[in-house]
Amino acid sequence: MAKKTKTKKPSELFRYHEKPERIGAINPVEGITIGEAALVLLNCVYRDDNHGVFLYQGDCLEVLDAIAAKYPDGCFDMIFADPPYFLSNGGITCHAGKMVSVHKGDWDKSQGAEENHNFNRAWLERCRRVLKPNGTIWVTGTLHVIFSVGYAMQQLGYRILNDIAWEKPNPPPNLGCRCFTHSTETVLWAAKSEKSRHVFNYDDMRAVTGKQMKTVWTMSAPGSDEKKFGKHPTQKPVALVERCLLASTNKGDLVLDPFVGGGDNLRRLRETGTTICWD
Ligand SMILES: C[S@@+](CC[C@H](N)C(=O)[O-])C[C@H]1O[C@@H](n2cnc3c(N)ncnc32)[C@H](O)[C@@H]1O
Repeated sequence: MAKKTKTKKPSELFRYHEKPERIGAINPVEGITIGEAALVLLNCVYRDDNHGVFLYQGDCLEVLDAIAAKYPDGCFDMIFADPPYFLSNGGITCHAGKMVSVHKGDWDKSQGAEENHNFNRAWLERCRRVLKPNGTIWVTGTLHVIFSVGYAMQQLGYRILNDIAWEKPNPPPNLGCRCFTHSTETVLWAAKSEKSRHVFNYDDMRAVTGKQMKTVWTMSAPGSDEKKFGKHPTQKPVALVERCLLASTNKGDLVLDPFVGGGDNLRRLRETGTTICWD
């Protein structure tokens, strides 16, 4: 018989709020160097030892190589990755009622299908190396990138657990009127391997809706209250990251965000355990 669970608001469900101070400072990246000829310490641009948050600046491919060299069996319990979508290629979109060109930054320009896929393979391979055997990864993307990400995951030996459709209730209108207006992004959730015994906090997820949570999550794009540290053109809502964390981590777990962007999500991440990010 189905278990009865009282529905709670997602904000009531976040289990880590009570005492973030207790987490303490565990920084597995401390003292790691990169480069062969002249070894250089990783560039730590922010740290909050009480909450276990460490922010590093650099190319995540290099940094991940350095971490993997120190931890050949992995050191992260979970990874949340929001990589370039490769969609800044001269198209147009509607922003605040105006027609604007899509230009998120040079980092978002497509290099062609082959090169984009090579990049996805490169960072996903490195992320897999630094995941613990039972660790999981969440990766966001639109049609521009998500098929390559999914294929790379299959090539590399990940086990894809779910493809979440993040539905935006108020998407921008489609100006060309030649196809449907884009109103979803995909979030792939995968375990390190077929053998992984991954964490899934089933009851916490069930309590959000009062029944088994489905793979369609409706959440608004981030509002101004989530843009206190400046505007990043591809910022993800805190609620999305929060739900991924709640679903797949335990208290004090070690979490990595290799493409941290604006960093507003750190507000939430810093309450959950040690987080290491780059941009
Ligand atoms: C899609 S955005 C992430 C946005 C972020 N999730 C947020 O909420 O603000 C991707 C970010 O990755 C950064 N990036 C691109 N290539 C990178 C690399 N090789 N190493 C580290 N960061 C990179 C870009 O500068 C950009 O800020």
